[in-house]
Amino acid sequence: MTNEEGKTAILSATDVRKWYGGFHALDGVSFTINEGEFVSIIGPNGAGKTTLINVLTGLVAPNTGTVVFKGRDISGIGPEKLSRMGMARSFQLVNVFPNFSVLEFLMVAVVSRLGKGTRLFSSLLRDKQITDGAMEVAHLFGLDAKKDMLAKNLPQGDKKMLDVASAFALHPEVILLDEPTSGVSTSDKNKIMETLVSASKQIGIKSILQVEHDMDLVFSYSDRVIALQAGKILADSTPALIEQDEEVVCTVMGKKECFKIFSSLQNKER
Ligand SMILES: Nc1ncnc2c1ncn2[C@@H]1O[C@H](COP(=O)(O)OP(=O)(O)O)[C@@H](O)[C@H]1O
Ligand SMILES: [Mg+2]
Repeated sequence: MTNEEGKTAILSATDVRKWYGGFHALDGVSFTINEGEFVSIIGPNGAGKTTLINVLTGLVAPNTGTVVFKGRDISGIGPEKLSRMGMARSFQLVNVFPNFSVLEFLMVAVVSRLGKGTRLFSSLLRDKQITDGAMEVAHLFGLDAKKDMLAKNLPQGDKKMLDVASAFALHPEVILLDEPTSGVSTSDKNKIMETLVSASKQIGIKSILQVEHDMDLVFSYSDRVIALQAGKILADSTPALIEQDEEVVCTVMGKKECFKIFSSLQNKER
């Protein structure tokens, strides 16, 4: 599966289309994610970013087109089998079980990874392999001191971290994150990105695909940026090239953001 650039493809979409009634949420999307890449998907609200993540993770079946993960067509495979194959995701809207503690929430993912889901929860709580696995990710995400807090009482930034951490607890090869920093303060956003990158290295995650709105984060952390607009790929390139492409940035981010970015670029050049 090594391509002409010497990269190994891990996840690819070919001519993926998804429509809701007459509305085309995805309108012929094709790309390949390679091992070792950190790819950001950008685009205005309604561009189809979440739909794309849902299709890539088998939550939504495309009307036409294929999704291939590690050489296998995964359409309709379902999230559990997909996670066993090595793919995990987090959601745009955080959905943590409110009455679980941080540790218990992470244990659910570890239980699933270890295939121990048929046992009583009370016995799982005493299983050292499970509690250690949960503590490992809690530590990577700076949640160890809060391990006994109820998920519902966490501040928004930590809730987001917990949701992302539970995807990491599955030890996937590829992870898809839908807006991991949304609703989080600007200073926390950088912390989340740093944590994502270092946790990926620790766990051995090969590729990250994230949806992200904050262009500073996109340009600082990604190897590649895919811009979506109205269900189509507008650009798929390096951050350096996308950053300079005024037409893409303006189309994707809207006039205000575009002005902010290009006026600051011009200031840098002076
Ligand atoms: N289940 C659905 N039923 C009908 N329309 C949907 C559904 N999910 C998404 N859409 C529409 O598809 C478009 C793309 O949505 P989405 O993928 O959530 O965009 P993004 O994540 O880029 O903001 C939007 O116009 C949205 O209203
Ligand atoms: Mg979305």
